Amino acid sequence: MTVTIVGSQLGDEGKGALVDLWGGDADVVVRYQGGDNAGHTVVEGGEEYALSLVPSGAVRGKVGVLGNGCVVNPRTLFDELETLRERGLDPDVRVAERAHVILPYHRRLDSVEEETKAESGDEVGTTGRGIGPTYEDKAGRRGVRVGDLLDPAVLRDRLEYVVPRKRAAIEEVYGLEAGEECDVGALHEEFAEFGRRLREEGMTVDCSAFLHERRAAGDAVMFEGAQGTLIDVDHGSYPYVTSSNPTAGGAAVGSGVGPTVTGRGEVVGVVKAYLSRVGEGPMPTELDGDRREEALAGDIREKGSEFGTVTGRPRRIGWLDVPMLRHAARTNGYTGVAVNHVDVLAGLDELRVGHAYELDGEELRTVPSTTERWAECEPVLRELEPWPAVDWAAVAESGYDALPDAAADYLEYLEAQIDTPVYAVGVGPDRERTVVRHDPWA
Ligand code: GDP
Ligand code: IMO
Ligand code: MG
Repeated sequence: MTVTIVGSQLGDEGKGALVDLWGGDADVVVRYQGGDNAGHTVVEGGEEYALSLVPSGAVRGKVGVLGNGCVVNPRTLFDELETLRERGLDPDVRVAERAHVILPYHRRLDSVEEETKAESGDEVGTTGRGIGPTYEDKAGRRGVRVGDLLDPAVLRDRLEYVVPRKRAAIEEVYGLEAGEECDVGALHEEFAEFGRRLREEGMTVDCSAFLHERRAAGDAVMFEGAQGTLIDVDHGSYPYVTSSNPTAGGAAVGSGVGPTVTGRGEVVGVVKAYLSRVGEGPMPTELDGDRREEALAGDIREKGSEFGTVTGRPRRIGWLDVPMLRHAARTNGYTGVAVNHVDVLAGLDELRVGHAYELDGEELRTVPSTTERWAECEPVLRELEPWPAVDWAAVAESGYDALPDAAADYLEYLEAQIDTPVYAVGVGPDRERTVVRHDPWA
């Protein structure tokens, strides 16, 4: 049995919190895509942990795996492990030998390309972690994989082929000066040393074989999606996307566990009760139309601490976008959803949701395939009853029936629209502040 946790919107839905909650019954927690662009928060008894590459099961001492679909920066991985150890955790993290390595030239190219696009206002607003350039090299068959770090001769061959091409791109395409990030000798020395460390600490695995063995031994496996459905490279708002597949199908491809296995398990979509976005791209329900809307967005941003965990950027805020969730429920094949941040919406004077879009005089119930068309969509807003602020600790303790009536109505409306049951409701960041209605392991 597996449980896959997927972001339903634009990232930062609270996936870390759910992985922490339900990861309690897992033995192994697997990230299947993305890299240190993710920022997942776990709050346990008031202690907050910010995880980026290390799977969120680490807070509960679960084995963490970075699957073959991930891109791994060994510099930030070892730094993060060190920080978590200083916080008293003892993370056991395995890294797929088939995962690709983020090298310093990937980060440089990420920022160089963003700066160039910014000149015409076309930047994506990436996290600057080198994610896109690394996946480009993977697809271009010139990437360096974690397994290559373990063999200094192979690593040298790979670098000798790829680095001059990166240097040429920086110097000849962008007209900039290449620096240390294109020094084969220095890269080889540093990254062969990472390889030695990974081997010495027994951290590398054949991910598919490792998970097969663990499952055969009876272990429960949880998949932790990063990012979200609308920033998936195939199903999101291309080109304002990340370069991997956060959607549920990615769990199979990015780990080497068959789709028949993940498909027999549960796939739970994490939904933020409103919408946030870091970076560029369309957002039809964005609250930015006038000063009143901006003030409301500011309120929600403060109450929900909507500032990027990775970059600190203020997140853009909007009403819940239901067409987006119909798209996510279909694309991911959700068995259930967890709706977070219900406490943040409490006490508002008005509450709306984007029920549909209007485009060229027609009503659309889902997201158009091209981003240009999506950007032209006007939201068809519905007004729903706001709920009051209540003692959320008491609600979390008593259960679903203790939710304010208007909040229950909001959830019921959503369930009907996406034809998917609400498994859990987040009423605060702490592990204790989730109302569980159905346990996906049950
Ligand atoms: P992730 O990337 O999907 O794991 O989400 P992030 O950790 O980047 O952002 C979610 C933020 O909301 C974090 O600060 C969480 O601690 C917090 N959070 C999660 N669930 C809830 C909730 O139900 N209510 C509130 N108020 N905060 C929540
Ligand atoms: P978690 O896992 C929110 C966004 C970036 C940018 C776009 C591409 O915490 O939900 P990238 O650096 O991946 O090439 O950036 O994707 N983005 C995220 N937004 N949450 C994330 O992760 C994100 N990871 C990337 O802001 O718009
Ligand atoms: Mg996040």
